[in-house]
Amino acid sequence: METAAPVVLPLAPSPRVPRHVAIIMDGNGRWARQRGRPRTFGHREGVRSVRAVVEESVRRGVGTLTLFAFSSENWQRPRAEVTVLMELFMTALRGEVRRLNDNDVRLRVIGERSAFPEKLQHRIIEAESLTATNTTLNLQVAANYGGRWDMTQAARRLVADVQAGRLDPDAIDEQALTQRLSFPDLPEPDLFIRTGGEQRLSNFLLWQAAYAELYFTDRLWPDFNDAAFGEALDDFARRQRRFGLTGEQIETLTAVSA
Ligand code: IPE
Ligand code: IPE
Ligand code: MG
Repeated sequence: METAAPVVLPLAPSPRVPRHVAIIMDGNGRWARQRGRPRTFGHREGVRSVRAVVEESVRRGVGTLTLFAFSSENWQRPRAEVTVLMELFMTALRGEVRRLNDNDVRLRVIGERSAFPEKLQHRIIEAESLTATNTTLNLQVAANYGGRWDMTQAARRLVADVQAGRLDPDAIDEQALTQRLSFPDLPEPDLFIRTGGEQRLSNFLLWQAAYAELYFTDRLWPDFNDAAFGEALDDFARRQRRFGLTGEQIETLTAVSA
């Protein structure tokens, strides 16, 4: 039976270029081990892939890129590896920020940053303020981030707003929660990439990725270059996103909006 109800899609039907790409940068340790080197060597090499993906995003017109650099769970790794990751974060911030700024990239860090060394927290604030007015690419680095953490802190903000009388509990809807997550001003991820061969979310953007297209590749993160990223973008461009509708409905809608 045909229905005349207006169709509301959560995201644009099939933009050829994703507005937001989220990436789990996985496989550094294995990449290094394959070369007989310590895992941390892979993390250092991984910075090159970050540069490649950022620059390709600018070239291809991706407006927002979110990179998973360190999860809430990664603190449980050997202490020496965690230390190197923190140092690498510091040096990358020092070394890359000027270049990001020249490319009109706005950098933001999402995650529970109070757990980081104070020097690192300062450097993050400096980098964020230096690039705050840039608009070509929103680059978000997820550090000490977890999807459950994000939802929990949003829930806490909801309760605080209710207690302060700013919010009626009956008015709590999906949007009210979304607005209290880490990046309420940016579009939801259209494309969710994981390198390194595993097919799991590992507590990344759980709420925001509800309708993201998933793309898994066996390529380890240090081998993920601009061409590999381009392949993922091309794959995305060929997909039909249906958001619960039928393929025919989507074709009609796409034809109307083209
Ligand atoms: C991803 O690579 C980087 C971080 C989690 C910090 P891994 O370090 O997880 O590399 P593999 O998965 O062990 O190869
Ligand atoms: C996810 O990778 C986190 C980051 C890439 C920063 P992990 O390597 O930590 O994920 P699991 O442990 O394989 O699920
Ligand atoms: Mg891993």
